[in-house]
Amino acid sequence: MLSRRVGPVIALGSVVASVAAAPSGFPASGNGLWFSQPGRFDAWSNDWLPIGNGYLAAMLQGETGQEVAQLNIESLWSGGPFQDPNYNGGNKLPSDQVTVAQQLQEIRQSIFRSESGTIDNIEELTTDAGAYGSYVGAGYLLSTLDVTGDVSAFTRWLDMDAAVQRTLWTQGNTTFLRETFCSHPLEACVQHINTSDASALPALTFAYSIAAESGIPTPTVSCLDNSTLQITGTASSPGMAFELLARVSVAADGGSAPSVACGAIGTGNATISVSGASAAWLTWVGGTNYDQDAGDAAHNFTFQGADPHDTLIALIDSATSSSLTYDDIVSRHIADYSGLITKFELHLGEVPDLDTPTDQLKNAYQTDTGNTYLEWLLFNFGRYLLAGSGRGALPANLQGKWAKDASNPWSADSNINIQMNYWFAELTDMDVVKPLFDYFEKNWVPRGSLTAQYLYNISEGWVTHNEIFGHTGMKGGGNTASWADYPESNAWMMFHVWDHFDFTQDTEWFQSQGWPLLKSAAQFHLQKLVPDERFNDSTLVVVPCNSPEQVPITLGCAHAQQVIWQLFNAIDKGFPSSGDNDTEFLNEVRTKRSQMDKGIHIGSWGQLQEWKVDMDSPDDTHRHLSHLIGLYPGYAITNYDPRLQATAANYTQEEVIAAATTSLIHRGNGTGPDADSGWEKVWRAAAWAQLGNASEFYHELSYVLERNFAPNLFSLYSSGADAIFQIDANFGFPAAVLNALVQAPDEPNFQSIFTVKLLPALPPQWASGSIKNVRLRGGFGIGFAWGDSKVNSLVLTADAAASRRQVRFMQGRDEIKTITVEPGVRVKIL
Ligand SMILES: *[C@@H]1O[C@H](CO)[C@@H](O)[C@H](O)[C@H]1NC(C)=O
Ligand SMILES: *[C@@H]1O[C@H](CO)[C@@H](O)[C@H](O)[C@H]1NC(C)=O
Ligand SMILES: *[C@@H]1O[C@H](CO)[C@@H](O)[C@H](O)[C@H]1NC(C)=O
Ligand SMILES: *[C@@H]1O[C@H](CO)[C@@H](O)[C@H](O)[C@H]1NC(C)=O
Ligand SMILES: *[C@@H]1O[C@H](CO)[C@@H](O)[C@H](O)[C@H]1NC(C)=O
Ligand SMILES: *[C@@H]1O[C@H](CO)[C@@H](O)[C@H](O)[C@H]1NC(C)=O
Ligand SMILES: *[C@@H]1O[C@H](CO)[C@@H](O)[C@H](O)[C@H]1NC(C)=O
Ligand SMILES: *[C@@H]1O[C@H](CO)[C@@H](O)[C@H](O)[C@H]1NC(C)=O
Ligand SMILES: *[C@@H]1O[C@H](CO)[C@@H](O)[C@H](O)[C@H]1NC(C)=O
Ligand SMILES: *[C@@H]1O[C@H](CO)[C@@H](O)[C@H](O)[C@H]1NC(C)=O
Ligand SMILES: *[C@@H]1O[C@H](CO)[C@@H](O)[C@H](O)[C@H]1NC(C)=O
Repeated sequence: MLSRRVGPVIALGSVVASVAAAPSGFPASGNGLWFSQPGRFDAWSNDWLPIGNGYLAAMLQGETGQEVAQLNIESLWSGGPFQDPNYNGGNKLPSDQVTVAQQLQEIRQSIFRSESGTIDNIEELTTDAGAYGSYVGAGYLLSTLDVTGDVSAFTRWLDMDAAVQRTLWTQGNTTFLRETFCSHPLEACVQHINTSDASALPALTFAYSIAAESGIPTPTVSCLDNSTLQITGTASSPGMAFELLARVSVAADGGSAPSVACGAIGTGNATISVSGASAAWLTWVGGTNYDQDAGDAAHNFTFQGADPHDTLIALIDSATSSSLTYDDIVSRHIADYSGLITKFELHLGEVPDLDTPTDQLKNAYQTDTGNTYLEWLLFNFGRYLLAGSGRGALPANLQGKWAKDASNPWSADSNINIQMNYWFAELTDMDVVKPLFDYFEKNWVPRGSLTAQYLYNISEGWVTHNEIFGHTGMKGGGNTASWADYPESNAWMMFHVWDHFDFTQDTEWFQSQGWPLLKSAAQFHLQKLVPDERFNDSTLVVVPCNSPEQVPITLGCAHAQQVIWQLFNAIDKGFPSSGDNDTEFLNEVRTKRSQMDKGIHIGSWGQLQEWKVDMDSPDDTHRHLSHLIGLYPGYAITNYDPRLQATAANYTQEEVIAAATTSLIHRGNGTGPDADSGWEKVWRAAAWAQLGNASEFYHELSYVLERNFAPNLFSLYSSGADAIFQIDANFGFPAAVLNALVQAPDEPNFQSIFTVKLLPALPPQWASGSIKNVRLRGGFGIGFAWGDSKVNSLVLTADAAASRRQVRFMQGRDEIKTITVEPGVRVKIL
């Protein structure tokens, strides 16, 4: 990647003396990241700090004289129908439906007839990506103070109790504090600056620069009024329109009234200048003309929304209303954020280290030795990031919502890594998942119903293979099966839909959104399963298939079979609450579920087979644990039940778990070819925890922290100052930690006692700790504490809507207690 400069290089004082301890405003709990240097300009993914409210996001360099905030608007994408009116989501032409259906039959036959059970390509099924586009950055806000001289006592930090970034420094006898956050209730971000003694601020300017987002058409920057910058542009040319409004508010210094004026510097570049203020704050809002309610056939899949201007005016007027003081804005923000985040709390016996900046903690961190405080921080950081990216109209993407540039790695899209983003959301009681479901319903279902028809000749249900703007076809064109052929992505995503109902028992939501999603995804797979004509074992299989991102192209892939089986179980379990009376559908699900291959086969070297044909290589260290999905995050392996999943071999649960363990060992530690980033290691950590193996769990968890995280605790795909950021390991990390502390995986039906294992893979480093309110399936939460690695208290709090079910609490082989959950009660169990 190229290195970039935002604007002219302004000589600002250099930091001559940095502080040796966290600043006094730093949370006493230690719940924050702090640094004794500003971020390096060219080290966005390593050094800058993220803030966000779901709608908007920003990355802050944390500089002194000139602060740079890199901006994002959640829906700002290049490509799609905004760039190409003929964009059709990667679908085949309707006129080709018969031909494609025949090609699919031929592909199936050639796999069945092939000696190896594999074929080389399925090029006939893929389509060119077309104007797929990318999530793009929305430029940079520059906040410049006319101050010179050496900087001392510099610190910048991210307060994760308050979701506020702050920079504090002394320069020319003045101590400055700049703080920045994004308020969810106001749908606005705010940057405030003042001095420690309320003295007059030096002259200030606020400007906008697109310079660093090379490739984006130059937007127009003008003065909406004397205190407001208006930025209008497009993501591509032609492309989606966006607008940002940034308004300055000031507090007087007691002397004459402050002056705030907006004027153009050069053409099309407006700047706001402020003088005579004791405090100033910039409030910005942003939006685009993307509308996911216009992504269906009735709107010709245009996703075309209204010009965002009027909405933005209303937002900025309310966020800068004279009836709101700055303190009001901050307290509303903190109340909102704490309301979301403090329902759950984790302690691992961490001892805050307030003397060592976070980057130094990170640099000193070592695999296996670990540092409980840093692990705890990374856990909290994952929740902070989901709070900051999950609550918009769209779900958190591959970079949450934080991305710069006109073109981002993998488009920063919502591909198969998105599932990991939400692994811990229900468990930690974060009300952030609805945008994910809206995204399925509005972006995938409409166009995906056409994909089901035109690509698979299937008249009911929907499918997707990949991603935004209803791009539901097999993206790529050419021999791209490994990436593109993943029609089970909808079945994996349905884990989250089922889980939301299972955790919340929210029947109203389930009937209106959850069930229709589950049902339509299942309808597709019901029609897509076909009799296995290779093994002729009377089972139904998926063909063609490959593991996500891994060929061969074959039949009966374990991943596909396991996730579809779980989807069918969700239908069976959800039906009584669905309000649906379509028993014909239910019966078809039950019949095909019993007929289908369950994706559980033990192979020649004791492995759990990745494909129905026994051809796994013991040396395959692929990044994905595709065939082990039923170990974690699924349950097809973990809660294997021979009565439901038996093949002729009729394995016992112990045999299946042993085979999965063998496969996991051979999959390596997540350093294989193109397999050395973070998400594959956190997945392995969670899988080891699932097996109750604390030492392997902690090895992998600490390995990922040492190897794949940046000084700012972002999860990195590559190395170097301008390394590629991928957020999935940030989100997978808290899930893996939780899986070592409490496990209550889903089950195929409600017939057995629901088992909750406490501290199933507790490393000795976390010998004492506590959890407040981890949510479990059935609509209840538990709080528990432990010391000397033993649970010493346990409380259960059931929602009014909780399902009445027997729950058995275990630690190791010992039963703590079995109780029946009664709705609305709080029980002290231990
Ligand atoms: C606008 O002016 C600022 C300085 O005030 C500069 O940094 C920025 O690059 C300019 N933007 C454009 C688009 O020229
Ligand atoms: C609908 O969109 C397609 C491209 O997907 C375009 O060819 C067609 O002209 C559009 N129809 C209308 C009525 O706008
Ligand atoms: C496509 O689906 C139709 C309707 O179900 C069916 O009649 C036809 O045989 C299918 N075509 C192929 C090639 O499978
Ligand atoms: C800082 O204060 C000292 C003592 O009052 C004074 O001598 C010095 O000139 C001041 N420096 C600046 C940059 O204002
Ligand atoms: C400066 O602003 C912060 C909040 O950003 C506030 O806590 C502090 O009291 C202010 N300082 C003065 C001197 O007003
Ligand atoms: C900005 O302020 C100047 C000076 O007070 C005034 O002449 C001008 O009309 C104002 N412009 C706007 C857009 O309010
Ligand atoms: C499986 O059955 C089909 C007919 O349904 C037959 O053509 C094929 O040869 C059989 N395959 C094997 C391996 O027996
Ligand atoms: C099922 O529900 C639909 C509409 O909700 C209704 O029209 C239909 O009569 C019902 N069928 C049965 C068998 O109850
Ligand atoms: C498989 O074994 C279980 C006991 O482990 C038994 O209940 C079941 O009937 C067996 N199934 C088959 C198909 O043999
Ligand atoms: C990870 O696996 C590789 C390949 O087997 C090995 O060389 C390396 O030492 C392992 N590292 C850790 C920390 O497990
Ligand atoms: C954990 O896994 C490792 C590697 O397979 C094995 O050597 C060790 O015995 C396992 N520990 C436990 C407690 O199962």
